[in-house]
Amino acid sequence: MAVGPDISDLHFADAPDVDQVPGPNSKRLLETQRQRESNAVAYPKNIPVAFKEGKGATIRDVDGNTFLDFFAGIGVLNVGHSNPYVLEAAQEQLGTLAHTVDFPTEVRMNLIEKLNEIAPGSLPDNNRVIFGGPTGSDAIEGTIKLAKYNTGGTGLIAFRGSYHGGTAGALSLTAGKKYKADYTPLLSNVHFAKYPYPHLQGKSGAEAVDEALAEVRSILNDPFSGVTNPAGIWVEPIQGEGGVITPPEGFLPGLSEIADNHDIPLIVDEIQAGLGRTGQWFGSDWYDVTPSVMPMAKALGGIGLPLSATMYHEDLDTWEAGGHAGTYRGFLPAMRAGTRAIEYIQSHDLLTHARDVGEYMRSRLREGTENNSRIGEIRGKGLFIGVEFVDADGTPDSDVVSDIQQYCYEHGVLVWKAGRYGQVLRLLPPLVVTQGQAETGIEIILDAIDELPPQSA
Ligand SMILES: Cc1ncc(COP(=O)(O)O)c(C=O)c1O
Repeated sequence: MAVGPDISDLHFADAPDVDQVPGPNSKRLLETQRQRESNAVAYPKNIPVAFKEGKGATIRDVDGNTFLDFFAGIGVLNVGHSNPYVLEAAQEQLGTLAHTVDFPTEVRMNLIEKLNEIAPGSLPDNNRVIFGGPTGSDAIEGTIKLAKYNTGGTGLIAFRGSYHGGTAGALSLTAGKKYKADYTPLLSNVHFAKYPYPHLQGKSGAEAVDEALAEVRSILNDPFSGVTNPAGIWVEPIQGEGGVITPPEGFLPGLSEIADNHDIPLIVDEIQAGLGRTGQWFGSDWYDVTPSVMPMAKALGGIGLPLSATMYHEDLDTWEAGGHAGTYRGFLPAMRAGTRAIEYIQSHDLLTHARDVGEYMRSRLREGTENNSRIGEIRGKGLFIGVEFVDADGTPDSDVVSDIQQYCYEHGVLVWKAGRYGQVLRLLPPLVVTQGQAETGIEIILDAIDELPPQSA
């Protein structure tokens, strides 16, 4: 028997149901936030709303407007807001024992066991897991230390278009200048290769892969490439912030082979792509690749409880006690929630569901925009979906995604942006989104695209 409620019972039944946005209560809270909180607050500048409660793939604001949530806390709420099967265990754990640094508990060992069960490639039974601080960035910091410690190297290889986080090491591996320009110098000896992006590069998939791999080989082999002592290669299996850039077949396996040949770890960042988002447990599964090191966060805490973890091949487990630390490496309610979230996904076969609904969403988007010259590409895997917009001359269109986001907000669907130029509509609905909700949401998105002003040259 399946655990917890059926996915059709998880949501506010009336979503989408929007009167006027932002409503008076949202406006009041937004104004208080504007006066009291840091100017660094970012999300409400795109969607001016204050939320009150969430259920499944739906969320309600403080004025009673109810939305389909197609960004799910940016890929966090894979089993939906407040999933009762997960919530029950997290609440119970909160009342029993919440924090244990890294002393062993059944709860901790159960999550490690569950992660071992779903690990990609040949990692099952050949891995170790480390918990550090609760954010993805912290997990990335740990991977940098692990790679340096094991190789004795300092050279870090990453990719253009990447996002790996906001702390100093993770920011060093992040390609976007807007995130880091004011904070240099960061780590030195970081090198960015091209990520295969056939659409933007005007190349076939195979050409883009060959070019990207040739560049990585050259960084490692060319005695005048400027790289000294490589420590590892960091890659997202699908670039999220970069624009849901979905590499063609051959890229990750090629990269894995290069890393093996140079005896350096391949660190596959599954923070956004992992834990079912793509319709496989991990992005690496799509490409039949075994990461040497695999940081996870976001959906790991089940219902938005902060938790990160990094799994790595046991041969890399060379460091001493305290090799990577952090006070909050033992938050048991999040660990309990993580185990339950994996159980819920397994029990409701949500990987298949994510593949089916994601494929439906992509094909309906393609069909509904068939002759629309604004659409550059519709891509992604499972419920990790990107729609790239272009100008009349085929170059990235930076303006329209904000208009689409606003229209969707006013009509009850929350969507997000991505891409180097903000030209990609990014959809990350919870894996529990129903077929009916997907159909409703996509029609609203298609209406938003139809409502756009004439295309600029
Ligand atoms: C691929 C990837 N890596 C790392 C991070 C950083 O995670 P966090 O924001 O939890 O620090 C993110 C966040 O969006 C991400 O998408």
